[in-house]
Amino acid sequence: MVEFYYHDNKDTPDNFTEAHSTGEHVPEAELARIGVFYRKCPTIEELDKVAVERQYKNRDEITLNLKTFNNDLDAYNAKMKQFYAEHYHEDEEIRYIVEGEGYFDVRNKDDRWIRARMEPEDLLVLPAGIYHRFTLSDGPKHIKAIRLFKDEPKWEAINRGDRPDSAARQEYVQSLA
Ligand code: LAC
Ligand code: NI
Repeated sequence: MVEFYYHDNKDTPDNFTEAHSTGEHVPEAELARIGVFYRKCPTIEELDKVAVERQYKNRDEITLNLKTFNNDLDAYNAKMKQFYAEHYHEDEEIRYIVEGEGYFDVRNKDDRWIRARMEPEDLLVLPAGIYHRFTLSDGPKHIKAIRLFKDEPKWEAINRGDRPDSAARQEYVQSLA
């Protein structure tokens, strides 16, 4: 079952896959205020229901662990670093965890990191334009997740500070006001 808490901001390039919990729980209502939506989906039927409700037409499945990088630790670490760089997308991001464990961090209104520790049956919707990051946890170091897309998959990640705010980012910021 998912757990939401404030991140302690004590992460370094060497320890960012650790839990980094302040112990301070974040209620779902606070996540709703920043447009983040959580649903526990114990079955694929329930996942399908969310997909229909939100008009998601496409999906794929991704498995991440050292083996999926042919045991190439450098390639694996480079990917972790990329996922952990703070970024946003111009589309919603929906992730449903099938196996393993991972952390999704999202910025709240005060730019504090809220961490979602995601386990199997957990579904998270991140709105377009929200700054976030992801990493596998120190535990199983493995995740299998389903990614859902409204239309064709859009992969572009816009890293924080890289360029002027896009329309999607501006819209998101306005939605918080
Ligand atoms: C994603 C996560 C890594 O974009 O943020 O899939
Ligand atoms: Ni992302």
